[in-house]
Amino acid sequence: MLKARELQLDEMGDLADIIPGQEPVLQAVINPIPQFGKAPRRPIIPVCEPTLSGNELKYVTEAVETNWISSAGSYIRQFESSFAEKVGSRYGVACANGTVALHLALATLGLDPGDEVIIPTFTMIATANAVTYLGARPVLVDAEPCTWNLDIEQVESRITPRTRAIVVVHTYGHPVDMDTLNAIAAKHALFVLEDAAEAHGARYKDRPVGSLGDAASFSFYGNKIITTGEGGMVTTNREDVARLAWNLRDHAFSAERHFWHKYLGYNYRMTNLQAAVGLAQTEQLERFVAARRANAAHYTQLLSKIPGIVTPPEATWATNVFWMYGILLEKEFGLTRDALRQGLAQRGIETRTFFIPMHCQPIYFDQYRGERYPVAEDLCRRGLYLPSASNLTRQDIEVVVQAIRECRSEAGA
Ligand SMILES: Cc1ncc(COP(=O)(O)O)c(C=O)c1O
Repeated sequence: MLKARELQLDEMGDLADIIPGQEPVLQAVINPIPQFGKAPRRPIIPVCEPTLSGNELKYVTEAVETNWISSAGSYIRQFESSFAEKVGSRYGVACANGTVALHLALATLGLDPGDEVIIPTFTMIATANAVTYLGARPVLVDAEPCTWNLDIEQVESRITPRTRAIVVVHTYGHPVDMDTLNAIAAKHALFVLEDAAEAHGARYKDRPVGSLGDAASFSFYGNKIITTGEGGMVTTNREDVARLAWNLRDHAFSAERHFWHKYLGYNYRMTNLQAAVGLAQTEQLERFVAARRANAAHYTQLLSKIPGIVTPPEATWATNVFWMYGILLEKEFGLTRDALRQGLAQRGIETRTFFIPMHCQPIYFDQYRGERYPVAEDLCRRGLYLPSASNLTRQDIEVVVQAIRECRSEAGA
């Protein structure tokens, strides 16, 4: 049987202090906050939830009524082309989730065991796992403090003769400085994959993410800006990548003989039901992005009056879509990140800690033993994200900010 890699905190040395405490228990009660008049509209404010306010039901009903519920229905192609167009790409390859979108895009490269793929250490585990599934080695780069994305200045020093690709992550919806990154990749003939799981609609120098490298991968999990429940997509302007990804997604059946397989394929297909939801969601992308940006502006305006809170970044060349509204706590705030989460959970407000970097994960700890990435570690130690759904109201945001103030004053800060 497969054994879990149990990592005890005392094995981690001083890295142990960045690891968050246990998840606080969310209490389903938010007391009305008199300052804002009305009672909140629900007992908890979740960190995220879908907004299914368009043609979702209509299109799903149509898929059911016409008996097209598998991966062969027409919504798949419609969703692929409408989403790809939104992100400025020629092709879209819909698939089962964002992890397999990463896997599919990288699989088109034909990586060999021992090949290396550069990724940020400050990311969600799927970025590293997709590389590992292919037998290649994720090589880590630290984050940089301005955008929380990978530090491009450190990328070149991590390139070796085995490096085949760079995966960048548009973290929490903030784009990476792609021109600088692409120049390095071009110099070393490396494939660039944008992990845009969190950044639907984000723009870099007014160009949409998803079209800025050789390929990009998106997630449509329930907490993403556009969701299909579970789902993902590879977008690309390269016909060779798109054709191969379509084929690999579908067991790599061959055109000349159906049950004849010349590649190791996968069943990573999306269903027509999911694509029906995805098409309806894509029609609303601009509205969702506008809502997230307005919510972020409201949070930032209120939170900047509270000492010790660092609000999320937006570089001059970036349009951040604030998939998650992340904050960092400084000493001056007077409460630790975990203590604040506990206080908010008691008030029915759900939060998440920032990512735990890849070199601190039980499953990768031995591989990166002794490697240190101070910026990513610091983000992990001090960061959390607040409720961020597209359907959040101004009142929800005011309730959250008021609760943060209360937690602070209860702690005597
Ligand atoms: C940066 C990043 N990459 C990949 C994924 C994986 O997407 P999925 O959960 O759809 O497999 C996520 C999921 O949240 C993510 O945040």
